[in-house]
Amino acid sequence: MSPDYKVRKTPGDTSWFTQDRFGMFIHWGLYAMPARHEWVKNHEKTPEEKYDKYFKYFNPDLYDPKEWARAAKNAGMKYAVLTSKHHEGFCLFDSKFTDYKSTNTPCGRDLVKEYVEAFRAEGLRVGFYYSLLDWHHPEFPIDSLHPRRDDENREEQNKGRDIKKYAQYMRDQVTELLTNYGKIDILWFDFSYGEKGKDEWEAEKLIATARAIQPDIIIDNRTQIEQDIWTPEQVQPREWVRDDNGNLVVWELCQTFSGSWGYHREESTWLSPEMLVRMLVNTVSCGGNLLLNVGPTARGYLDSRAVAALEAIGGWMRYNSRAIYGCTQSEFKAPPDVRYTQKGNRLYVHLFAYPFRYVYLPGLAGKVDYAQFLHDASEVFYGNEENGELRIDLPRVMPCTLVPVIELFLKD
Ligand code: GLC
Repeated sequence: MSPDYKVRKTPGDTSWFTQDRFGMFIHWGLYAMPARHEWVKNHEKTPEEKYDKYFKYFNPDLYDPKEWARAAKNAGMKYAVLTSKHHEGFCLFDSKFTDYKSTNTPCGRDLVKEYVEAFRAEGLRVGFYYSLLDWHHPEFPIDSLHPRRDDENREEQNKGRDIKKYAQYMRDQVTELLTNYGKIDILWFDFSYGEKGKDEWEAEKLIATARAIQPDIIIDNRTQIEQDIWTPEQVQPREWVRDDNGNLVVWELCQTFSGSWGYHREESTWLSPEMLVRMLVNTVSCGGNLLLNVGPTARGYLDSRAVAALEAIGGWMRYNSRAIYGCTQSEFKAPPDVRYTQKGNRLYVHLFAYPFRYVYLPGLAGKVDYAQFLHDASEVFYGNEENGELRIDLPRVMPCTLVPVIELFLKD
């Protein structure tokens, strides 16, 4: 009875990934200081001398990745992906191939190393995001996304820039990242666009470099070469994501709490706890993973809004994670305002609306052996309708949980 989908094979090992379902994305870098989006250097075409100030004064004195790891774990997250380098080019690790790194700022620490150790100690898997764009590297040609794009002497600045040297730099850094920090579970490249894609990144070689060191590692698709995971962003898929040939793929939705990935002081479009839980549920109901982003402050801690959001999700996950871990899209089709997740013969009915008295589930009449609320294992009555619907009798008062889940034990 367990749903068994034919999913496109992956070069890396995604077996743990599709079990774990829920991870933490962490966008952290110098852009936490301007605190107005990680693209600030692009948006404001910030002059280099100005951006250098952030480097000069970067000092996250309250950085304690053990706290981040605990917050992730308590939210029910099972893995994390940290920006080892974002588009600004600043490296959070002690790379031999650049001076533009955390160890050369007042902070003086290899932030990646501490992150890896802390998350591993909490039993979470660790991944690295690595930006393909680099707005600091002297060999990275200035293009239409570059902060220097409108400089009068753009042509002059661009002279002699050699993207091949930059591609080698990326291979060298990926080699460091995958050699110096033990087993790394995910490598998350970002991203290809009109002017630059797999040829410019020398993506084939870049991926081969990574796989030679860590063959099982999970790699995303944003180099423009399909690998292990497809990565829709800031949307809510309505069905399982497919490749261009229509095959189901392993996929992961990445999503922010608000409109920015990096710490944004003034950003006010924060999603409600209820919406965050729904996102997680919706994602798993379509056979995917959710990578939910935090943008720590420049002092190194997660601000109260992020902590509150994580705690709210954790409160729901504490009692309902059985409907998430190891679950996937159901073989049955849910009616409006309901999402299904399924694992073996357990079908989880997530109620996005709470109707008066009855909810009707098509095609399930006669198929259910027992029903209960998941959060407290309290019995739920049901009946079979002649048209094949299962009628669930809901208590008048909605249980006090962000999204009520009914656990149906299907007959064998
Ligand atoms: C986009 C943005 C970037 C962010 C990423 C996360 O590609 O460029 O800032 O890191 O999405 O998916």
